[in-house]
Amino acid sequence: MLLPFEDGQIKHEPSGLALVRPNAALLESYREACAETWDNIHNRYILHDPVRYDEWKHTIFGTFEDRARGVNLPDGYYPSVMLWACAGDRFVGAVNIRTSQDEALLTYGGTYGYFVRTSERRKGYGTALALMGLEAAKLLGVEPIAITLQESNRASCALAEHLPYLRLERYEADVDGVWQPVRRYWLG
Ligand SMILES: CC(C)(COP(=O)(O)OP(=O)(O)OC[C@H]1O[C@@H](n2cnc3c(N)ncnc32)[C@H](O)[C@@H]1OP(=O)(O)O)[C@@H](O)C(=O)NCCC(=O)NCCS
Repeated sequence: MLLPFEDGQIKHEPSGLALVRPNAALLESYREACAETWDNIHNRYILHDPVRYDEWKHTIFGTFEDRARGVNLPDGYYPSVMLWACAGDRFVGAVNIRTSQDEALLTYGGTYGYFVRTSERRKGYGTALALMGLEAAKLLGVEPIAITLQESNRASCALAEHLPYLRLERYEADVDGVWQPVRRYWLG
């Protein structure tokens, strides 16, 4: 994956987190993270089913490459760059940045999404990851940059208040076929 930044270049000094391309050295740590997080996330698109590890371990990196190139995209997917956040050799979380966006995505979905593995939550990593995602989106040349959240996602809404946002909008949007109150933070 050709990116306008090197592995480890985008980092958050206070937390010790750095963004890297998904890689084989982190695969076992990623698998453990998927196992502990699978039942603690409302949108699983950003994870892999830990039970099916033997199926995806050979294809995961090729799939990420395809997504970045915008080829073989499943229905409803946008071209996107997946980056993993690690503390040393431990996988802590991931951020997925959509490099091509339209009105529908900006209404719900947003420029990027992220998660922190269950065992590492409430330590400030989520905020660090969201800030690094913002930096990566800017370096990738994506604009405008907006994150969208369900009002019911209390952790995510609390986190967003720590981000350098320009404007907050609140409205209802179609979330998996159900109208839900959402927030959209335009980031600068
Ligand atoms: C949202 C998420 C990334 C937060 O990660 P985290 O590492 O716990 O975040 P932080 O430690 O930086 O905490 C950020 C804020 O959220 C608050 N928070 C974290 N978990 C919370 C919870 N379960 N309930 C209420 N507030 C919570 C923290 O207290 C903090 O707010 P404060 O500084 O005002 O006290 C994590 O819960 C997660 O991965 N959730 C599933 C995926 C998701 O919802 N992604 C976001 C939408 S794309």
